[in-house]
Amino acid sequence: MEKLKQRIEKDGQVLSSSVLKVNSFLNHGIDPELIDAIGQEFASAFTGQGISKVITIESGGIAPAYAAAGYLHVPMVYAKKAEPSTMSHPLSASVYSYTKQKTYSICIEEELLQKGDVVLFIDDFLANGGAFEGIQELVTKSGARLGGVGICIEKAWQDGSALVRRSGIPLCVLASIASMSRENGIVWNH
Ligand code: G4P
Repeated sequence: MEKLKQRIEKDGQVLSSSVLKVNSFLNHGIDPELIDAIGQEFASAFTGQGISKVITIESGGIAPAYAAAGYLHVPMVYAKKAEPSTMSHPLSASVYSYTKQKTYSICIEEELLQKGDVVLFIDDFLANGGAFEGIQELVTKSGARLGGVGICIEKAWQDGSALVRRSGIPLCVLASIASMSRENGIVWNH
């Protein structure tokens, strides 16, 4: 998606060869027009594939997931990292964060995902694939099916890229980074 790549080049900061900062427009500060275009792009990639719900994990995935769900005309749910006291029937899974080297729980209210749902997982980054694995566990436990994965920015050399492709689940990546460095900036895939 040219618009996203151009924005990353303009306002993103390569902090190291493995960390890209995009918090002025994507996952902290939000540019609503860009997020809207991202939602449209994901929706056109998955229209006609029977998607009945969009899911993400708080917090970075919420804005693009919401925008995609709006264009797909389906509900969206985000998994929470802490269980609220108001949750009556939590359905949980564990996520291993390779970056942070720790495991944490994610949960959703059980009734928000149902048997028969075909679920699209949207996230801001695909790095090592811990979030993807956790969502897969959660969706499977609910009896629903993971029918697609939509990623804003993929760091293609990290393990998540191969992990999702191996799963055979349809994948849409909007901006795929082949490599990056502070000195030379970003090298894009295709
Ligand atoms: P995964 O995202 O593929 O699961 O891999 P990993 O466990 O390594 O990622 C841990 C967290 O780091 C995730 O956010 C992910 O979005 C974020 N992340 C990974 N690479 C980058 C990067 O290059 N830049 C930025 N800005 N974030 C990155 P999280 O801990 O779930 O929290 P949140 O930030 O979404 O709230």
